[in-house]
Amino acid sequence: MGPSNADRIEAPVTVKAYMMCGFAAFAGILFGYDSGYISGVLGMAFFKKEFGHPVPTSIDETGFLYSTSNKSLIVSILSAGTFFGALFAGALADWIGRRMTIIIGCIVFSVGVILQVASTSVGLLVPGRLIAGVGVGFVSAINILYMSEVAPRKVRGAIVSGYQFAITIGIMLASIVTNATQHRNNASSYRIAMAIQFVWAFILAVGLFLLPESPRYFVKKGQVDAATDALARVRGQPRDSAYIQDELAEILANYQYEMEIGEVGWIGLLSGGWSPAGNFRKVVLGALLQMMQQWTGVNFIFYYSTTYFQQIGLKNAFLISMITTIVNVCSTPISFYTIEKFGRRTLLIYGAIGMLVCEFIVAIVGTADPKGHSAQGALIAFVCIYIFFFASTWGPGAWVVIGEIFPLPIRSKGVAVSTASNWFWNCIIGIITPYMVDKDQGNLGSKVFFIWGALCTACVIFAYFMVPETKGLTLEQVDKMLEETTPRTSAKWRPHETYATAMEKHSEAATVEHVEPKSAGV
Ligand code: BGC
Repeated sequence: MGPSNADRIEAPVTVKAYMMCGFAAFAGILFGYDSGYISGVLGMAFFKKEFGHPVPTSIDETGFLYSTSNKSLIVSILSAGTFFGALFAGALADWIGRRMTIIIGCIVFSVGVILQVASTSVGLLVPGRLIAGVGVGFVSAINILYMSEVAPRKVRGAIVSGYQFAITIGIMLASIVTNATQHRNNASSYRIAMAIQFVWAFILAVGLFLLPESPRYFVKKGQVDAATDALARVRGQPRDSAYIQDELAEILANYQYEMEIGEVGWIGLLSGGWSPAGNFRKVVLGALLQMMQQWTGVNFIFYYSTTYFQQIGLKNAFLISMITTIVNVCSTPISFYTIEKFGRRTLLIYGAIGMLVCEFIVAIVGTADPKGHSAQGALIAFVCIYIFFFASTWGPGAWVVIGEIFPLPIRSKGVAVSTASNWFWNCIIGIITPYMVDKDQGNLGSKVFFIWGALCTACVIFAYFMVPETKGLTLEQVDKMLEETTPRTSAKWRPHETYATAMEKHSEAATVEHVEPKSAGV
């Protein structure tokens, strides 16, 4: 076994493997639709009447509106539920499996959807969104884990980007549906938009029921036979093929290696401290990466753009918001190619630079000439370019990297903590944004983009100093790379031996030591 073996390990990518992972990406539609529909529903006249309170028509032309606190609660309670769901899901996924956790997530989610559809007041809508959020938390954390674990490494980045693509499609579908039902003058206006969420949960649960469990979960459980079966299924190879045997040996050896050096459990997340391959450092990296993804300010657009565009005097606020969701969808597939070609780190650094430039332009133009016709044109254009940069870099990039940096003993918990961090910041931004922007509150208007621009500058610095390059490596090799490099030198690292060979050498050495203990010092 030489270096060439370190390169081989995996079977050629089959159409079946693509289809399986492609299907798992379907979870993204659920996530995207669920977080995206609220923006349109909040703008519906009937919804304002049902859930708001009377206001003078000078404030809202329908004569009804919600208080800033209710608006902020309705939007952000979902992410609060998702935060807890994602955290809990990590432990559950190690216990009952990745697949079952996602299926249970779909069931919990559906209970939340029933409450939302039935609601006629904030009192029922809020618990409905909280419970649905817990379900989305299960799905969003564990789906990334599942996809990263079953995807062939050559296309792992592209496949996880496919998940992000599905998120963007979900957001776009939500904006199309709410646009279509917004003029209905009864509860069907919002109920249709809410009830469609069932469809995604149903398709995802049934599909996952038919897909195999992650082979790495079985390895963790000590069920090597089941792991072989699952691996053979996801790779489309017979059980006894050399590819399956090699890849399994690698997964097993890595797991054994990890178990020798690290503990598991929540406390295990702290082990190794800040050393280059320390668990704690990886968890901090994952959590910060997801925090930074939210700090780019993207959900200001996807949650509140309609009201923001109205506030700055744009006539077609609803339409422009929908266009931003379309730009989001169309730009994401670019990352399928670039994430494998240029790597995760490069994409994150340049993506954040692109975004911050756009954000400062929007802030400056919007502040200098808030109501000017050409200024508004420029503002819309740069919001769209900003979304283009997000969708082709940080959108998928943040998810890809958290699927790759954690070693198996802490993978599910690491991904869960990182995902929870995404939702935590998503929630915080959801809560504070209306207070910063609403006319009767902070009334920042376009100035809010100065804040997003500054935060995006922090994203560049973070990506440059902390994000390693994980492109083209098996999940096991990523671990070795982290041990042997710094983020800035990581892109040049090449795999030099497999875990299986390393473990072989290790046990040979142990035997020699055992047989001839005295020879060691000679
Ligand atoms: C983010 C979401 C965001 C979406 C937009 C995702 O990667 O985590 O918060 O709404 O991208 O496409």
